[in-house]
Order: sequence, then structure tokens, then C-alpha cells
Amino acid sequence: MRKFLIAGNWKMNTTAASGAELAGAVAAQAGELSAVDLLVCPPSVYLAGVKAAIGDANVALGAQNMYHEASGAFTGEVSADMLKDVGCTHVILGHSERRHILGETDEDINKKTKAALAAGLIPVVCVGELLEEREAGKTAEVIQTQFDGSLAGLTAEQVAGTVIAYEPVWAIGTGKVATPEQAEEVHADLRKLIAERYNAATAEAVRILYGGSVKPDNATELLGQDDVDGALIGGASLKAADFVAIAKAGVELSK
Ligand code: 13P
Repeated sequence: MRKFLIAGNWKMNTTAASGAELAGAVAAQAGELSAVDLLVCPPSVYLAGVKAAIGDANVALGAQNMYHEASGAFTGEVSADMLKDVGCTHVILGHSERRHILGETDEDINKKTKAALAAGLIPVVCVGELLEEREAGKTAEVIQTQFDGSLAGLTAEQVAGTVIAYEPVWAIGTGKVATPEQAEEVHADLRKLIAERYNAATAEAVRILYGGSVKPDNATELLGQDDVDGALIGGASLKAADFVAIAKAGVELSK
């Protein structure tokens, strides 16, 4: 059985103080949530502070982005080793906001994924279709292209250690959540694709998270789908009570 991963993507929100408070509140309840894995991804400038707030609690730390080079003249960028240095174990890569607002391509995301894996970070690689792509019946094609491009050249072992997040762009921050059936359809397709590209054991091992308007009141239904192995949560991860409630839905389903 794959253990649920409940991940909070704080995006460009919080302050040093409010981020530490949020992480502290999650950390305080982590003991009761050990049936699931917890991950928080604050803005990079707050990573060290959030790490301190987490202390010894079982809450992993992730960044929201990184650059693929190890060091050098890349003004404004941070490397995988820097993220590790401040306590990160994970890094979100290819989030739709980076693809569509910052112009990241599958090739960029592929370089970052390889660099993250080489440094020993777990990449959380995001894929997802736009509303017009879904309406044109192109969802499966878009997901396949993003998957193949973003994970090109990885070994089966590396893929097994990567987390995939399916985030339909039309469901992000809109309150419009994918139905559990819509989520499951894409997740099952992704797992089938991984089995085809690699092998069945790899497909069984990979955790595929759903993201897009996950809230306490829809978490049980979404996490209850066979191929949904966790959630990547934006807005609701900014409230400790909501994030913990979603994690508790995962704990209940794990029984
Ligand atoms: P929301 O949960 O705010 O829709 O954001 C989802 C997301 O983009 C997480 O990465």
C-alpha cells in the first residue's frame, strides 16, 4: 500500500512569523497523523524559519521551485544543494503557475527533476491540462506529453522515487474541484503510462497526488479513489485546521 502524502503548497503567501506559526500548528498535531506523510512547502526565503518551527516533528519540508545548475552566476536562483542545506527533502517542480505564468517548459522541468534527484531531493513533478484542452478532449494527450517531457531520461528507480501531482489548471484556486471520477481517470491513466514506459512495480510504487481546490469537505472522496495517493493543497494549506482536517481524512482512509 502506498502511504498518503498530504502536501501544502503555500505559494507566495505568509510572512516569516505567520509561516512559522502555521508550520508550528501543523507540527503540533503531526503525532496523531503518522498514518500519512506530511509536507509543507513555504516560500524559499522562509524555508529555514519553517524548518526551525517544525523542529523534530514528522513534517517534511519542500521548496516550490529550484534551478538546475549547482552553483554559479545565476542571479536570483537557488540550487538543489541549497535547498538540502536548509532542510528540504522535497521540491515541487513544474507547477502550472510556473509553466503558465513564468514560462517553464517540459525541458526546463526535466533538467530540474534530474538535478533534484542527483542531489537527493524528492521531486514533486506537476502535470495538468488547461480548461480548453480538457474541453477539446486533449487531457490524456497533454498529460502524456508533460509526463514524457518532464521525466525524460530517468531510470525506473528514479521514477519510483518521484512524486507526481495531477493538477488540472481549471481547478487550481478556482473552487472548481475535479470530480473524484475525473481525478481517478487521469491518475489511472498516469499509472498505466508509468507501467508502459517503465514497469508494473514502478507504477505501483509512484505516489500520484491530486491538486486543485482540495478542501476538508471534498478530501475523503478524492483520497478515496484507488489511484489518488495524496493531495497537493494550495489555499486550504494556509489554515492549519483545514490542512490537518485533510490529513485526518487520509488517516481515516488508511485504517
Ligand atoms: P488550490 O488548492 O488553492 O486550488 O491550489 C492547488 C495548487 O495549485 C497546489 O499546488
